Amino acid sequence: MSDSTNSELGSSGVPESTMKRLEGRKALVTGASRGIGREIAIAFAREGADVVINYRSSDEDAEVLARTVEDLGDRAWVYSADVSDIDQVGEMKRSVEKYMGPIDILVNNAGINRDTLFSKMDEEAWKEVFSVNMNGVFNCTKTFLDHLEESDHSRIINITSIVGQIGNIGQANYAASKAGIIGFTKSLAKELARKNINVNAISPGFIETDMLSGVPDKVREKIVAQIPMRRFGRPEEVAKSVVFLASNDADYITGHVLNVNGGMYL
Ligand SMILES: NC(=O)c1ccc[n+]([C@@H]2O[C@H](COP(=O)([O-])OP(=O)(O)OC[C@H]3O[C@@H](n4cnc5c(N)ncnc54)[C@H](OP(=O)(O)O)[C@@H]3O)[C@@H](O)[C@H]2O)c1
Repeated sequence: MSDSTNSELGSSGVPESTMKRLEGRKALVTGASRGIGREIAIAFAREGADVVINYRSSDEDAEVLARTVEDLGDRAWVYSADVSDIDQVGEMKRSVEKYMGPIDILVNNAGINRDTLFSKMDEEAWKEVFSVNMNGVFNCTKTFLDHLEESDHSRIINITSIVGQIGNIGQANYAASKAGIIGFTKSLAKELARKNINVNAISPGFIETDMLSGVPDKVREKIVAQIPMRRFGRPEEVAKSVVFLASNDADYITGHVLNVNGGMYL
């Protein structure tokens, strides 16, 4: 066998082109019933991972997604839990342990926005966004940390936002919560590196999901004009970058914020 043929084989002897990058891994994706989370779950399944599909209320969407994951040949476990409630997250963990065993990839993706100018923003809109976007990240990471400590190639991937990096009118609550996720990611990366847990963040720009669907056409046009690629991103484009950070290709990357924003913020 020639050297060139050998170089196309992975360490297992299987041709690299047919190897799945997340074979044997188990991932929890929060907020996976729709949008970006849904595409992350599908991209993980395509790469051979079993997936826990967390969501809050979209039962039907979550069940449909589970069938898609199973059709790809992987196990899916659907669990409704409000990530802002640490007791519900604890219940989810017990269920995951029973039916799937410990996870080694945690994607903190669940997020909400309650947009309004700060002058009109009440305490409820502030607290609600923080309880999901920030406390949810704390609750899930805290609860599943012992799972992640068991594996020697664990990953925590937090979904932040370009708005947490550059701010946005009407999104002081959302921007602050997403900026907080970046500080959390970098701190945890330093703390957990010695345990072989890589902690990174993905920072999407403006992505075509339900979250963007409420934005009026005129505002959408103004946003697109600020994106060098002159288009919104697609959820699957974010998912591909999550797969990269979850894979062995990113073994030496931790504490990084990966922009997926069409060049809008560099
Ligand atoms: N779309 C964008 O332009 C954009 C840009 C940058 C960053 N992001 C971030 O990317 C992430 C996903 O956004 P998306 O656009 O895909 O949002 P989306 O389409 O609105 O979907 C949100 C998902 O989060 C779930 N969720 C909401 N609150 C939850 C809670 N308390 N507990 C558990 N699950 C909850 C929803 O579940 P149900 O279906 O049951 O409600 C749904 O699956 C968010 O963190 C968002 O901030 C989005």
